[in-house]
Amino acid sequence: MLILGLETSCDETGVALYHTERGLLAHALFSQIDIHVEYGGVVPELASRDHVRKTLPLLEQVMAEAGVTAADIDGVAYTAGPGLVGALMVGATLARALAWGWGVPALGVHHMEGHLLAPMLEEEHPEFPFVALLVSGGHTQLVRVDGIGKYKLLGESLDDAAGEAFDKVAKMLGLPYPGGPHVAKLAAQGNSERFDFPRPMVNRPGLDFSFSGLKTYTLNTVEDCKIDGVLGEQDRVDIARAFEDAVVSTLTIKCRRALQQEGLKTLVMAGGVSANLNLRAELKRALAKEQAAVFYPAPQFCTDNGAMIAYAGAQRLRAGQIDAADVAVRPRWPM
Ligand code: KG4
Ligand code: ZN
Repeated sequence: MLILGLETSCDETGVALYHTERGLLAHALFSQIDIHVEYGGVVPELASRDHVRKTLPLLEQVMAEAGVTAADIDGVAYTAGPGLVGALMVGATLARALAWGWGVPALGVHHMEGHLLAPMLEEEHPEFPFVALLVSGGHTQLVRVDGIGKYKLLGESLDDAAGEAFDKVAKMLGLPYPGGPHVAKLAAQGNSERFDFPRPMVNRPGLDFSFSGLKTYTLNTVEDCKIDGVLGEQDRVDIARAFEDAVVSTLTIKCRRALQQEGLKTLVMAGGVSANLNLRAELKRALAKEQAAVFYPAPQFCTDNGAMIAYAGAQRLRAGQIDAADVAVRPRWPM
């Protein structure tokens, strides 16, 4: 089965072709970061308009790259939510129209299911069951995964998502949007010994997270360090480091706890924050001690992309699942 995947939930246009036997044939991504950077965050209307401009050219590009024609495509998967409603509508409408024109089924995929299954695109991929840590700009969740569609939420953030906290701390440090990679770059030069930021909720039982207190703690530290309203360069890098260390160790503690609770030895990490190299290294180190393994997507498939949607859609379409023909999106959608 050859499945076209479309991702347009936020500020990246992703298009991919996934074949259930041959794997990923082609994928293309356009990031709108340059469009939104001057506003310090995603402007929904600008996002929708740019998805309109980019989806068809990217589709033509991946079809040419894969050497396939419309007649070869067996189904269309698109991100139906959660995300920005206008942006989602662009992908959903195009997917529905293409599927109708080509006479093939279309299926709306949950964006976080796409992230969660992205590590399955790798040659060395995990086997079910596993625990997944989903860490993106909108979500921080621990999920038990027993198979496609068999998901049990174990814990989640009660307030800000980890990526959102990275983005807000980036703003405090005068860094551009999206802040995660910029904070990580600063943190690499920082001194871990200088500050000791709190690890939220680690002393309480359970698997929920909270990052808003850590964000406030970071803001207070920024204000305390300023001299005549200016934050020194060493302060910036040390604060970035202390913040990143706190997020990394909080996530690591909860992942270990989730694996112990579920009696599992496999952890999968996905979503934009899973691109963070310190988080990857620390999880690997901590889990090795327990003979547990951690899997993550290739860096290009950690953040939003069409390949993960094509993959998730292919699994569901192969299992015979199809949606009604109306164009339906769900800006808020629990997994
Ligand atoms: O999954 P994603 O591309 O979009 C959402 O579905 O939210 O995740 C984007 C988030 C942003 O908050 C971004 O700052 C964060 O992932 N991020 C990172 C890194 N790369 C992206 N956070 C920390 N370290 C990184 N290297
Ligand atoms: Zn995402």
